[in-house]
Amino acid sequence: MKIAMVGSGYVGLVSGACFADFGHDVVCIDKDPGKIAALNDGVMPIFEPGLGELVASNVKAGRLSFTTDLAAGIADASAIFIAVGTPSRRGDGHADLSFVYAVAEEVGQHLKTEAVIVTKSTVPVGTGDEVERILTQAAPGVRFAVASNPEFLREGAAISDFKRPDRIVIGSDDEWAQEVMREVYRPLFLNQAPILFTSRRTSELIKYAANAFLAVKITFINEIADLCEKVDADVQDVSRGIGLDGRIGSKFLHAGPGYGGSCFPKDTLALLKTSEDYDSPLRIVEAVVKVNDSRKRAMGRKVVDALGGAEAARGKKVALLGLTFKPNTDDMRDAPSIAISQTLQDAGVEVSAYDPEGMALAAPLMPGVTMAASAYAAIEGADAVALVTEWDAFRALDFEKIKGLAKAPLLVDLRNVYDPAEVRAKGFTYVSVGRS
Ligand code: UGA
Repeated sequence: MKIAMVGSGYVGLVSGACFADFGHDVVCIDKDPGKIAALNDGVMPIFEPGLGELVASNVKAGRLSFTTDLAAGIADASAIFIAVGTPSRRGDGHADLSFVYAVAEEVGQHLKTEAVIVTKSTVPVGTGDEVERILTQAAPGVRFAVASNPEFLREGAAISDFKRPDRIVIGSDDEWAQEVMREVYRPLFLNQAPILFTSRRTSELIKYAANAFLAVKITFINEIADLCEKVDADVQDVSRGIGLDGRIGSKFLHAGPGYGGSCFPKDTLALLKTSEDYDSPLRIVEAVVKVNDSRKRAMGRKVVDALGGAEAARGKKVALLGLTFKPNTDDMRDAPSIAISQTLQDAGVEVSAYDPEGMALAAPLMPGVTMAASAYAAIEGADAVALVTEWDAFRALDFEKIKGLAKAPLLVDLRNVYDPAEVRAKGFTYVSVGRS
């Protein structure tokens, strides 16, 4: 089966490479000639574990190719995926759908043979209706159907998430579209991955509801962590104690500096806009957005407190370990490290930082922060080390070495990577999240 993937960003590229790996014939299309040239040279535009190898092997097998030519790329494709960005629109937080609609228009102009057009981009309820309207005008007389197929990939684990999904959601009432989509996902179907067919609008909402629910879960445990600190309880044990209840589930109950990334912040805002448009308040999600925003700066203040408060902190130096919004990505979008370093700098604290993959993208977002060549180079001369993102490289730090390099043995662990008793036994002052 031939599949066209319009948009070769994070979602399009991972999905395209995985579909090719299933045995489909996939063309990834993008307007950016630089990106396509790089992909044709085997250079990935993003950091995602395993992606380079997956792309290379499928290109070699002749199942995956890249082009800027949309007309040629979609020719004879049975399924044409729209996987372009839907960033927050400046000013109002609505999902900016201009890229999605532009692709629909262009696909319509060049559509010559029957195809199912599938929105994989995260799009608000009703977007599929508009895509259908655009195509009806642009491609009169050609048989097509518009389906929704949201993605649930986590950055850093996207390939395994794609190949072993908890579920596949297909939104379309059209039987032919359902059949084509069943064929697209047949290899996973054979693996018994649950496929859920819903209406298109329901499918669009499922994506937002899933991300919003996960954001609620994280924010809930973060607030419980704050309470744990006040009442002398341990949030790790609370998470385990509630997570073992099958109705709650243990995932996404890890307290930390607040969620970031390209999805939760953007999608919660877009969902709130939909709720406003339909006059159907989502007060829990509203609260989550506010609580998470304020948490990031609060984590900066936590480091200041660990340094002895505002007076004592002025002029001191803090080493930030980990800048990306989570490990195994170079993505800095809405990363808590940005607000944390800003809060520290506002308090007159000098900041040095190290991240295994994120420094190139982080540097312009953090003016005045010294980007160090290694974790230990960042720590040299620091009055405190703050672990912000839990990269594996920071899970077994050499505490003796840190003592030799840092001015004081003080670790603020915003991801609860370490065991408090063990770190204290090594002579460190240790501050973490939700543990007294
Ligand atoms: C998220 C969803 O998990 C995916 O299912 C979805 O497909 C994707 O958004 C998307 O909409 O494209 P992602 O943003 O890559 O994926 O990252 P997550 O692993 O979900 O983490 C998001 C943030 O929550 C990170 O900042 C992470 O550190 C934080 N987090 C996560 C916590 O603080 N605690 C947790 O227990 C889990």
